[in-house]
Amino acid sequence: MTETLRANEMGRPLERLDGHVKVTGEAVYAYEQPVTDPLYLHPVQSTIARGRITTFDASAAEAVEGVVAVLTHENAPRLAADDDKELWVLQDDRVHYRGQFIGVVVAESLEIARYAADLVRVEYDRWPHDVELRADRDDLYAPDVVNAGKETDTDSGDVDEALAHAPVVIDHTYTTPMEHNNPMEPHACIAIWDAENGGGLTLYDSTQGVYVVRRKLAPVLGLEPERIRVVSPHVGGGFGSKGTPHAHNVLACLAARVVGGRPVKLAVTRQQMFAVVGYRTPTIQRVRLGAGTDGRLVALAHDAIEQTSRINEFAEQSTTVSRMMYAAADRHTSHRLAALDVPPPFWMRAPGVFPGMYAAEVAMDELALACGLDPIELRVRNEPGTDPETGKPFSSRRLVECLREGARLFGWERRDPEPGTRLHDGWLEGTGVAAATYPRELMPGNHALIRYGSDGCYQVCIAAADIGTGTWTALTQIAADALEVPAKVIRLEIGDTDLPQATVAGGSSGLSSWGSAVVGAARAFRDRHGPRPEPGAEATGTVPDNPAAEKVALHSFGAQFAEVRVSADTGEVRVRRMLGVFSVGRVINARTARSQLIGGMTMGLSAALYEQSVVDPRFGHVIDHDLATYHIAANADVQDVDAVWLDEVDPFAGPMGARGIGEIGIVGAPAAIVNAVHHATGVRVRDLPVTPDKLV
Ligand code: MOS
Repeated sequence: MTETLRANEMGRPLERLDGHVKVTGEAVYAYEQPVTDPLYLHPVQSTIARGRITTFDASAAEAVEGVVAVLTHENAPRLAADDDKELWVLQDDRVHYRGQFIGVVVAESLEIARYAADLVRVEYDRWPHDVELRADRDDLYAPDVVNAGKETDTDSGDVDEALAHAPVVIDHTYTTPMEHNNPMEPHACIAIWDAENGGGLTLYDSTQGVYVVRRKLAPVLGLEPERIRVVSPHVGGGFGSKGTPHAHNVLACLAARVVGGRPVKLAVTRQQMFAVVGYRTPTIQRVRLGAGTDGRLVALAHDAIEQTSRINEFAEQSTTVSRMMYAAADRHTSHRLAALDVPPPFWMRAPGVFPGMYAAEVAMDELALACGLDPIELRVRNEPGTDPETGKPFSSRRLVECLREGARLFGWERRDPEPGTRLHDGWLEGTGVAAATYPRELMPGNHALIRYGSDGCYQVCIAAADIGTGTWTALTQIAADALEVPAKVIRLEIGDTDLPQATVAGGSSGLSSWGSAVVGAARAFRDRHGPRPEPGAEATGTVPDNPAAEKVALHSFGAQFAEVRVSADTGEVRVRRMLGVFSVGRVINARTARSQLIGGMTMGLSAALYEQSVVDPRFGHVIDHDLATYHIAANADVQDVDAVWLDEVDPFAGPMGARGIGEIGIVGAPAAIVNAVHHATGVRVRDLPVTPDKLV
């Protein structure tokens, strides 16, 4: 096991170091970077879902004063590699989904570019398209592998046989809708082409990982990675869609090459976000649970149907949580995909884990009722001794403590289990609980540089990202403890490929991966220079080896509680209280951690009650493609949300003992609300979101 860092700065609720520049507007985001004499892009999008462009008439657009160029598949520079079809823009006349970028107007102002883009006339050969995910499709297929490199199917024992003989069986289908990432700052970038020395590109980008952007764009653009610099010091939110570059980045790079050195700026509009930067696939999940009358599971089957696009495969890992969550002798999980004429789905907060845990934890609530058991007691009875998937011991599995501590704080013991009986002033009241889990990932490929300055401060450099999560602050605290100095003498530098390599802010892996590299660099620095370094002293380091981690299963856990009231007349659901109790290893910054967790829970509330992207099958586009019609939880929806955690340092989880907190907050939250709605009304909703029509 690696030596665990002693905490001095870690754990403190240090205020965000970037808070002041953010609230005063001084923080410079991608689109606002000061560049000289920029041009502005506005894309042209396809108005059909499948077919071929026969005519692209840009003459009216080109005639507008201030338009510099219109790029189409006929005149855009050629790209070098088509492995990623999402990034293969303006290279041929094919349309694969509605809203696909088929051209871009380059102009002296954003207004001119947008106006001129409307003047482009496109004619198509329209081909039949297919955008509907249904369980009865005959073309569902098993992908080779699902997201995060997990197996597509797993089987142990004979689940059908066990279900046939189980005294209590739950067999239901749960669905989650398509959802779209909507960070406060939409995707945006500035690209600058420098023709000197064989050419190079600078990209200011709103991204969760500058090195990811460089690594993915380099082969597409036919450039050596070192010729691309990506800069991203501040990011206004990213829930997965900014975890990879998308087509708009390529559009900007193509345009930058054409305009000969002038910077080009591209801000994806809120409406365009609903077609071009990925989304959460809809899911259709069948969960079958077989149990004894005592609630002990004997069989567990979880099968998911999801969609992907015909051009790129992305398979969300929705049933993987059922492989490790509860003990059962006979188990089965699977994923099947339909390839449709839709944009490629991609990451959205807790991909797989979020939809899978929703279905699994509502099914557990149904099992508790069928067995006449308290839902917390049911979960306690099904705790596995070791990880059911790998047979390894858990590094730390404190789910029962989370449930019991949550029950105490929430007042669970006063709960009357009978559904649909508490009517006060026209509102039916209920409470619900669900478990949460998230795997701890450690990304390989992180390096950090530490340099001591003549001002007595330590410059700590790593190309990490702060997407609003608190990296600036928490990574500073880690560096301080690793060097055994106060946080105020740390000067952190992040968000630039000129800094040492770092992995994506994703999979709840960012801070623990980057922080481990910073610890590695700090140890190398102290080994080489001792506690009294000379100015200019420096060292680089990487993540310390941790072979002990191979011997255990590393997962975070949590218990989510919700209290709702439902209008008996209208079916309107109000969430009065949410409480999450989490076991996540060490918490690096108590303030930003709480913010992350309650942010995740709020996103879970949003998914439970509001979020759904509605596709019109006739045209293949998302109808509610703005924040006026795609509803997300707003302040008035969030009355009392609190998150607490168990005091813990996981010695298997690297030098900080932290397992990561970015995603577990959203996991289980919608199930807790749906279970509370059932407790309030006696109506079991299995299809998210819980809109009033499903309750009246
Ligand atoms: Mo998160 S969806 O892994 O960026």
